[in-house]
Amino acid sequence: MVQASDIEAGHAVYSPAFLRIYDLFVHGLVNHLVWHCPTAALRALYDRNVKAHHLDIGVGTGYFLDKARWPAAHPDITLLDLNPHCLDFTSRRISRFAPRTVVANILEPLPRLGPFDSVGFGYLFHCIPGTIPEKAIAFDYLRPLLAPGARVFGATILNSGLPRWRPSQALMDFYNRMGFFSNAKDTLTDLTAALEQRFDHVRIDMKGPVALFEAQAG
Ligand SMILES: C[S@@+](CC[C@H](N)C(=O)[O-])C[C@H]1O[C@@H](n2cnc3c(N)ncnc32)[C@H](O)[C@@H]1O
Repeated sequence: MVQASDIEAGHAVYSPAFLRIYDLFVHGLVNHLVWHCPTAALRALYDRNVKAHHLDIGVGTGYFLDKARWPAAHPDITLLDLNPHCLDFTSRRISRFAPRTVVANILEPLPRLGPFDSVGFGYLFHCIPGTIPEKAIAFDYLRPLLAPGARVFGATILNSGLPRWRPSQALMDFYNRMGFFSNAKDTLTDLTAALEQRFDHVRIDMKGPVALFEAQAG
């Protein structure tokens, strides 16, 4: 049973002060040193999948939205997050695209938006409580918002593939204890099943414990 306090712990950490150092800490250091997942692989995932009508869920600082190679000069971008600080930070960062912002919890039915041709879930699933089959309800709430053939993609940190380096395990354990991560039961098998049950052309690449996934709506 998912508790409101667990949902809160997964997003409340993203204060304005933390957002100012997030890119350097997560995408500059931790991805490389701790998870052994190059940030370039995450950028390539965005470049391969973003389309002109894009929904981004769990936006953080908007790092990938800012760096992505968009297939249109003026992409229509909607930002969805439970934390208004993340929405403010990201919408200011990519103000050149005049994004729309929506405060919503991905574990509840979503407002009527879209249709979108691409949806990004960058580093979101490991922050939300429950097992992968429970978290996958987010894909079900998303379905009515997808255009036919929409790309659904993202990255999430699983409980396997962790480098045999003590600080990697220590950081994973610390984040789970604090509730920043809820991924102790997140397996590749469950993630594969959740995607294959709902989408076509599922592809998952593992880089350390990070699963980079992409799929297509029917
Ligand atoms: C680790 S950050 C990811 C930021 C960015 N996508 C990236 O890849 O760097 C997780 C984001 O998910 C948001 N978030 C956490 N739980 C959420 C929920 N239940 N519904 C919507 N957003 C949530 C947080 O506020 C935060 O912006």
